[in-house]
Amino acid sequence: MPSVCFATSRGERREIDVPSGTLVLDAARRAGLPMARACGERQVCGRCVVEVRRGHSGLSPEAPRETRVKARNGIARDTRLACCARVAGDLEIAASYW
Ligand code: FES
Repeated sequence: MPSVCFATSRGERREIDVPSGTLVLDAARRAGLPMARACGERQVCGRCVVEVRRGHSGLSPEAPRETRVKARNGIARDTRLACCARVAGDLEIAASYW
C-alpha cells in the first residue's frame, strides 16, 4: 500500500498507508486532518487544494475537470485538488491550514 505523509505547519508529520486509488481527501480524513471544502466534494470550489511536496508521480493524472476548476478559481497549476487526486504511490502532502 502507498504511504502518504501529511505535513502540518507546526512541523508535525502524520504518515498513513492507504490502498491505491484512495482520494487524497479521504486519506487526510483517515489521518485525522480536516479538509476545506465548500462544494460537497463535487469538484467545483477548489477549497480542497493541497501542495504536493514529494511524489507527484504518486498521484493519479490530473483530469481536465480538475484543471478547469483550478483555472477558474485561480489556483496554482502545480497543486492538486484533494477531492480529485487519487493516491497511486508514496507522497507527501501539505495544506496551508494544517
Ligand atoms: S471540495 Fe470542492 S473542489 Fe474539492
